[in-house]
Amino acid sequence: MQFGMHMAGKVFFGKGQSAKVKDLTEGLGAKRVVLVTDKTMQELGIAERIASYVRQGGALVWIFDEVEPEPSVETTDKAAELARENRCDLVVGLGGGSSMDVAKAVSVLVTNEGSAAKYQGLGLVKNPGVPKIMIPTTAGTGSEVTFTAVLIRKSDGVKGGINDDKLYPDYSLLDPELTVTMPPSVTASTGMDALAHALEAYTSRQASPFSDMFAEEAMVRIGRWIRVATWNGDNMEAREEMMLAAFFGGVALANAGVGACHALAYPLGGMFGVPHGVANALLLPYVVRFNSIAFPEKYARAAELLSGVSYEDWSLYEAAGSCSEVIEEMVLDLELPDTLDKLQVGIKEEHFEEMAKKAMGVSRPMENNPRKMTIDDCVRIYEEAME
Ligand SMILES: [Fe+2]
Repeated sequence: MQFGMHMAGKVFFGKGQSAKVKDLTEGLGAKRVVLVTDKTMQELGIAERIASYVRQGGALVWIFDEVEPEPSVETTDKAAELARENRCDLVVGLGGGSSMDVAKAVSVLVTNEGSAAKYQGLGLVKNPGVPKIMIPTTAGTGSEVTFTAVLIRKSDGVKGGINDDKLYPDYSLLDPELTVTMPPSVTASTGMDALAHALEAYTSRQASPFSDMFAEEAMVRIGRWIRVATWNGDNMEAREEMMLAAFFGGVALANAGVGACHALAYPLGGMFGVPHGVANALLLPYVVRFNSIAFPEKYARAAELLSGVSYEDWSLYEAAGSCSEVIEEMVLDLELPDTLDKLQVGIKEEHFEEMAKKAMGVSRPMENNPRKMTIDDCVRIYEEAME
């Protein structure tokens, strides 16, 4: 056995913890802060609330609210320009994975020249960034505890991550109260993204006892609470449990990586603009069906954790095989699209070859996948998922 373990800086969890940004701003001695967020957070008044905490901490704030659902290199460069021009010494990311990814990238672009595109890859960032604080408002992406910022290059539609230790947030404030604003569809899709992180980390070739512990705790919570959080969004216990699950899923992912589902989901986002969580929720049952015979112990255990049912009397392969069905049921209950056809974004069979090639190019998740996947397997999974 061999493994490392990584954690983001400091994490504070609980209702109202986002107000801590005041003390952190003060403690860091920050004077010029850029707050990276999106239009929804502006409209809800949450961006202004966080900005006022920062001001109370003794700093000036510039709000950049142009982050789009699948953030681009171009948008990131624009945010970085704002931060550079104003010589910002702290970056706050507020929102879902998109805003946090852009914020993480901006923090290193203040201290490293050129476009974000220059740093897409692994370990290409030279200088440490300015400090960064993440405040998630969804429970899913895990971006608040990972070292990745995924950005689309508009020029060729390819999604690429800036992956570098220097992107780990210094502080993450996990305030479940902020997730109450999420509509059911977003609660569902981001929650399923968290499940994809937990399950893919759990079955990854890099899984360790450390990442397994977090993945298991995430799956138990998602299986129990994702439906309640989606359809009874005011239920604070459900919101807390989902936020905790997303955090644990993020830790599992940061330590063991993700697998083929994420790789296959990338072109759906890059080529057709399908939101990350929606793409992963849709593909996960198909990928799990493909994978489960290669690692039956883990998939059987995952089925138990997600359903709360003991499969003790079942054969190992029967139990493992049921994992995809348990997930399918979740997708149906959450009223998320379960076929590529239902996405209605113009995906056709003739696209599968190109999509498969792009998915195979997402090499690290593909290498982590428990069952080796060929380009033909990718096409076959897209075909199965079509209708
Ligand atoms: Fe994800």
